[in-house]
Amino acid sequence: MRDLTLEIVRRLSVRNLEIARNGKALLTVPRLSLDGPGPTLILGPNGSGKSLLLRCLHGLIAPDRGQVEQDGAPLGLEHKARQAMVFQQPVLLRRSVAANLDFVLKRQGVPRRIRKTRIEELLDEGGLEGKARQSARSLSGGEAQRLAILRALALDPETLFLDEPTSALDPGATQTIERMIQRASNRGVRIVMVTHDIGQARRLAADIVMMQGGRVVEHGAAKQLLDAPESDASRRYLAGGLVT
Ligand SMILES: Nc1ncnc2c1ncn2[C@@H]1O[C@H](COP(=O)(O)OP(=O)(O)O)[C@@H](O)[C@H]1O
Ligand SMILES: [Mg+2]
Repeated sequence: MRDLTLEIVRRLSVRNLEIARNGKALLTVPRLSLDGPGPTLILGPNGSGKSLLLRCLHGLIAPDRGQVEQDGAPLGLEHKARQAMVFQQPVLLRRSVAANLDFVLKRQGVPRRIRKTRIEELLDEGGLEGKARQSARSLSGGEAQRLAILRALALDPETLFLDEPTSALDPGATQTIERMIQRASNRGVRIVMVTHDIGQARRLAADIVMMQGGRVVEHGAAKQLLDAPESDASRRYLAGGLVT
């Protein structure tokens, strides 16, 4: 567990970011600075560039122009090593639940004896303590996503990116995962998460980045943005209107 008193706020920022394909601008973000404790939720309609932005922040996609910075320095390997990402469809090894966690810990050079204890802690955290020996491929959707989050947490990340981790899940499974994310945030893991679920943003977010048409139309404290949005695009989206 990280000591919160030693925690410095990590500023993740974006300058003059542009991504285009076939002459069409997909992402245009002149400035965005994530410097609160989070969780930060990225909200917006389908195709608004949420996943592209998240992938840029994680360094999975190199932008055509501009750059991502952490604490004022270009995002480098040492930053990426402290980031983890969870995708909409969990990516798991065709092995047991415990082996999926062991793989990640072993790759980080964690000694066998410590791995065993850490795996137990992680299974407990994800409510999978009875499933250690079960094949990961036979888990339910919610369990599989919990395991994917545990694999990310096993990396002891400073920043955890999640791209619509609950969009395929029912309300009960969603609630369990939201609690895991909230606990990670409380322990000091910086959460940056994409959702199109306004209720989820209301439950989890400290700040919200609202996107539309490849642009950030608004970024602000969650309660204020949800209750009194400043942009027409945010207002229409929150009212459930069609935003194109
Ligand atoms: N590799 C790519 N090539 C061309 N277009 C892409 C590529 N990746 C994403 N897009 C387009 O960029 C837009 C934003 O995509 P995305 O970030 O996935 O949206 P969201 O996650 O908000 O639903 C969409 O119109 C999508 O079709
Ligand atoms: Mg997406």
